[in-house]
Amino acid sequence: MGSLDDFARDKLAHSERRGLRRKPVESVALDAVRIERGGRELLSFSGNDYLGLSFCPEVQRAAREALERYGCGAGASRLITGNHPLLGALERALSELKGSEDAVVFGSGYLTNLGLIPALCGPEDLIVADALSHACLLAGARLSGATLLCYAHENMAEVRAVLEARRGRHRHCLILTDGVFSMDGDLANLPELARLAERFDAWLLCDDAHGLGVVGGGRGSAFAHSEALTIALQMGTLSKAAGGYGGYVCASRVVCELLRTRARTFIYSTGLAPASAGAALAAVRRIAGDRALCARPLAHARRFCGRLGLPAPRSPIVPIVVGDGGRALELSARLERRGFLVVAIREPTVPRGTARLRITFSAAHRLEHVDALAEALGEELT
Ligand SMILES: Cc1ncc(COP(=O)(O)O)c(C=O)c1O
Repeated sequence: MGSLDDFARDKLAHSERRGLRRKPVESVALDAVRIERGGRELLSFSGNDYLGLSFCPEVQRAAREALERYGCGAGASRLITGNHPLLGALERALSELKGSEDAVVFGSGYLTNLGLIPALCGPEDLIVADALSHACLLAGARLSGATLLCYAHENMAEVRAVLEARRGRHRHCLILTDGVFSMDGDLANLPELARLAERFDAWLLCDDAHGLGVVGGGRGSAFAHSEALTIALQMGTLSKAAGGYGGYVCASRVVCELLRTRARTFIYSTGLAPASAGAALAAVRRIAGDRALCARPLAHARRFCGRLGLPAPRSPIVPIVVGDGGRALELSARLERRGFLVVAIREPTVPRGTARLRITFSAAHRLEHVDALAEALGEELT
């Protein structure tokens, strides 16, 4: 074990020197927005439980009933004996919400992208991705062995130029983007990407992890633009606005059939646990039926930005970019002393020199919570 431990020690020391060593802090959720850390209760603006559904009684009841009826775990891959009935019901609910023919549920959002992208693309193919795409889109792209070209964030002229120059040399082409960018809160230009995808016979994959439940009337970023869009692959997670765990992709029936046959994280990984599938099913039904709830997180973000004179947000994610990682940590610590949890985000999660506070709003926040944070942050920034 000597050389392995030496390797780990060296790597950690390197991270420590660069101020990038990470340590999980034990956090006890008291409800969707209150967290206990180190014996102190904090009001959190760092979670992704945008609708507060992790503590919603009907979602919790659905999880408990599923656990008692079908057991703690799926027990095997869905292709062996793990395909319990809640998974099919969840896929039908997701495809109805997203307007697709079918959907496939995976163990998590990360596993969805790691399975989906290599099932559709190989070394002969081209993948064109926004440089700020989530890490698991880029990991899936690399795993596929396809040629991966990243364009500068939201630069549509660059996407067009890349497709004009390179599309003809490859069998298939996939365009990857977040629908709502997780660290910036802005929306991808999906109308233009959909047009380019059609013109160059490319397949558009939108990662809507932060769009479901909070934009487009709750249906996600494909529905948040003035025109109706055709997006071949809408993937997402059940761990944010849906309040639980799991991942999915919505697509045509035949593509979903192919994924059930070829996606390795579907075939060789245990099916989503019944409690998670039951909770997600209740959450998706709630999202589909409660537009007022889905509108609340963005309304909170707008109120907050209005109070601080920040540009109007497009999603419930508001970044306060301060540049230096040390300054972001200091600001976060000051807010924590005042009772707010706003975690600092540093490289490599965001590009060097763009460290920030990432503030997220939940339907579970009350107006006075939003105003209190705006006041405290306003004071800390002046
Ligand atoms: C944009 C984006 N895609 C995918 C994921 C991964 O989803 P999961 O947490 O279900 O693995 C996340 C975050 O967790 C995300 O922010």
